[in-house]
Amino acid sequence: MIFEGKVALVTGGAGDLGNEMALHLAQEGADVAIWDVKSPAEAKAQVQRVKAAGRRVIYQRVDIANRKQVDAALAKLVTTLGGLDIVCANAGIVEARPFLEIPQDNWQRHMDINLTGSFNVGQATARQMVKAGTQGRIIFTSSWVSQIPWPENTAYDTSKAGVNMLMKQMARELAVYGIRVNAIAPGIVKAGLAGRQLIEEPQYAKRVSRVIPLGEPGTPVEIAQAVVYLAGPATAYMTGSLVVLDGGCSLFQFDQ
Ligand SMILES: NC(=O)c1ccc[n+]([C@@H]2O[C@H](COP(=O)([O-])OP(=O)(O)OC[C@H]3O[C@@H](n4cnc5c(N)ncnc54)[C@H](O)[C@@H]3O)[C@@H](O)[C@H]2O)c1
Repeated sequence: MIFEGKVALVTGGAGDLGNEMALHLAQEGADVAIWDVKSPAEAKAQVQRVKAAGRRVIYQRVDIANRKQVDAALAKLVTTLGGLDIVCANAGIVEARPFLEIPQDNWQRHMDINLTGSFNVGQATARQMVKAGTQGRIIFTSSWVSQIPWPENTAYDTSKAGVNMLMKQMARELAVYGIRVNAIAPGIVKAGLAGRQLIEEPQYAKRVSRVIPLGEPGTPVEIAQAVVYLAGPATAYMTGSLVVLDGGCSLFQFDQ
């Protein structure tokens, strides 16, 4: 129970990776706020799953791209749960397109949600931590493709590269307050965004079958365990780091 008495926020917590993070944090004793753009009805099963760990769990419908919604939800979270110690800025989208065919609104959506949404959550929660004197942890969900270009993924890859620099910049400026900021870079996980692409995009599935040196896609549990590590006492001296969990994908030279 390393998070007994702590409060955690997970954005995209009604999705596959975020829900696993929320569950693992609750199982380690944290009270949890789940933020997602889904309606309460759509998120019900995922919220129930985290509640089963026996901690206080609240669900808030929030579009992280909307700063007013983020600020209002955060104020309510702090009043309801009594503070904020751990933030998983995890919500994200992917809509793959070949570079020459990317419509401007597709590019803009990736920037608005993946990058500006991460900024909104990161800045709002960091301000709260500084105001409360909380030496908290902020963990972004980046991606292995933030560092390696993946076919037909320009908008997503670029937004996640931006998340990496946002994380480092925040780590640099917030260290003086004792706030640690890190990111995880999952590889291809057989769930969530990539899980759907594996089913819906045959070309994607064909590529994936060739690019994972460890042979298998990752699991949400493996990603959630890394989040527990980054939020916990074992990483008190770590800030500004990108932790890559990609089965070796980043090491691999692949053809297309
Ligand atoms: N699945 C993978 O293989 C993989 C690999 C690398 C990185 N990631 C990253 O992991 C994170 C979680 O993705 P996932 O795979 O669990 O997908 P997912 O679709 O299951 O979860 C994403 C969640 O974010 C929510 N969301 C989307 N837009 C939002 C918004 N504007 N405001 C609030 N919530 C919003 C969605 O409703 C969804 O519940 C993302 O940042 C993604 O880029 C996933």
